[in-house]
Amino acid sequence: MKKRQLGPCVTFFPQPTTLVSTVSSEGLVDIMTASWAGIVSKTPPTIAVSLNKNRKTYENICQTGNFVVNMVPASLAVEADYCGLRSGRDDDKLMVTGLSTAPAHEVEAPLIEECPLNVECRRVQELELGEYRLVLGEIVQIHAADEAFGENGQIDTRTFDPLVYLGGIREYWNLGNKSADAYRDGKKLFPSEE
Ligand SMILES: Cc1cc2nc3c(=O)[nH]c(=O)nc-3n(C[C@H](O)[C@H](O)[C@H](O)COP(=O)(O)O)c2cc1C
Repeated sequence: MKKRQLGPCVTFFPQPTTLVSTVSSEGLVDIMTASWAGIVSKTPPTIAVSLNKNRKTYENICQTGNFVVNMVPASLAVEADYCGLRSGRDDDKLMVTGLSTAPAHEVEAPLIEECPLNVECRRVQELELGEYRLVLGEIVQIHAADEAFGENGQIDTRTFDPLVYLGGIREYWNLGNKSADAYRDGKKLFPSEE
């Protein structure tokens, strides 16, 4: 495969599209789009979100110590894009987008009602990376849409329909087709295997 060198940059696919919801010490809710987010530990369950230190969202997390990471479905691509372009310092993003909130169970920051998966987090650690702050949040509760569970109790990802962000080329996609099951331990995967 012939390849081109892109140099030191942040092109990497895919990235999730999340909406991080927070509340300020005055009780004002803000939501912001974040694609630099992902699970980083199972025990304790931990999610990491990298936030520019000037975001209103980061200021709110510093004030309250908690946040919610909401998985964005493909149907909310326009709303998510808007929340990634405007700051809560200038706009009431909930009012403009029409998105609604519901109380979380363990933290002050609210859940976004229209997002089918909401992850409640308490900030436990932080890493300074230039202009960015990698915020580690211990997951204290997860809410998953009831309708996503089939009769066998398995989650049907088609119900979640997560919005995928292709950072380097600034496009949103949906998930596409399933390629394979994972963790196929015990099955012979390659002819060269014993
Ligand atoms: C698709 C997308 C992904 C983004 N991901 C991040 C991110 O991971 N971290 C970050 O600091 N900003 C990210 N941004 C930019 C923020 O969402 C944007 O600056 C927003 O206005 C901040 O809002 P706030 O000031 O209300 O917190 C992203 C924007 C878009 C459109």
